[in-house]
Amino acid sequence: MYKFVVFFLALVFTPAIASGDGLITRQSPYSAGETLDRLEAVLKKKGITIFARVSHTQGAAGVGIELGPTELLIFGNPKLGSHFFTSRQTAGIDLPQIGSGRGSNSPGKTGGHEDFGREQVTGNPDDTLKFRTPTLRNVALTAPYGHGGAYDTLRAVVEHHMDTVSSLYDYNYNRQAVLPTHPTLDAENYIAMDDPDRVDFIAEHNELYPYAYSEVDVDRILDFLNALTDTASIDLRSDQDVVNGVPSGLPLDD
Ligand code: HEM
Repeated sequence: MYKFVVFFLALVFTPAIASGDGLITRQSPYSAGETLDRLEAVLKKKGITIFARVSHTQGAAGVGIELGPTELLIFGNPKLGSHFFTSRQTAGIDLPQIGSGRGSNSPGKTGGHEDFGREQVTGNPDDTLKFRTPTLRNVALTAPYGHGGAYDTLRAVVEHHMDTVSSLYDYNYNRQAVLPTHPTLDAENYIAMDDPDRVDFIAEHNELYPYAYSEVDVDRILDFLNALTDTASIDLRSDQDVVNGVPSGLPLDD
């Protein structure tokens, strides 16, 4: 997912400098134009979309400014990168399936003990096991996490994102699932996770590549998520937040 989002590349002729942690500048043995031609050819060969190539030099010349060879190439892979820019879209990230299911069956299975997420609504096989990327507002207060409540802590669900497939196979529902007990449903809670075929089927639908992370990375992400807690909106039924009327005067129930 994070391989090719949209990279903005400005080629200027500068000595090789590694600046900061993320941006690396290298000197090319070719001219600016040729370097970009070569890069463009490689990207096209890999099936990556070229959105635009912009010559700042020409733009500058148009307003009477002389500028050295400076070009911008915008490229990306919308299929992968778009997930980064969206909220409330759907994606498959292999969250363990717990609970009695929502009527879905992976190949050769019966009983409807699985939940295929968006596919249940659209009927489109491409949507199998894709779930909505949830809002993260107040997420620190809304455990357990994932569509079925598979993880009981925020740290656990964030760590799941770092290597979804391994996390799925390592999942221990005795340690992490929080499910209320129910006389008829208890026996169905872990049917999917106890069946290696069904777990493989979930793993096959993963869309998120693994990412090498440190504990510090996770700590910082958790700090960020905790900072999204908005105490003013915890109780939306308080007098302050409830809408008591509309300008037309129509009754709210209508
Ligand atoms: C640092 C980046 C990210 C953070 C901090 C993050 C955090 C979270 C958290 C806390 C949840 C659980 C929310 C809940 O259950 O209420 C979640 C679920 C989810 N995330 Fe992420 N996420 C990140 C990146 C991504 C990316 C890149 C994708 C997709 C490509 C993604 C897709 C999803 C999906 C589909 C769910 C719901 C899964 C389900 O319920 O089965 N997340 N995320």
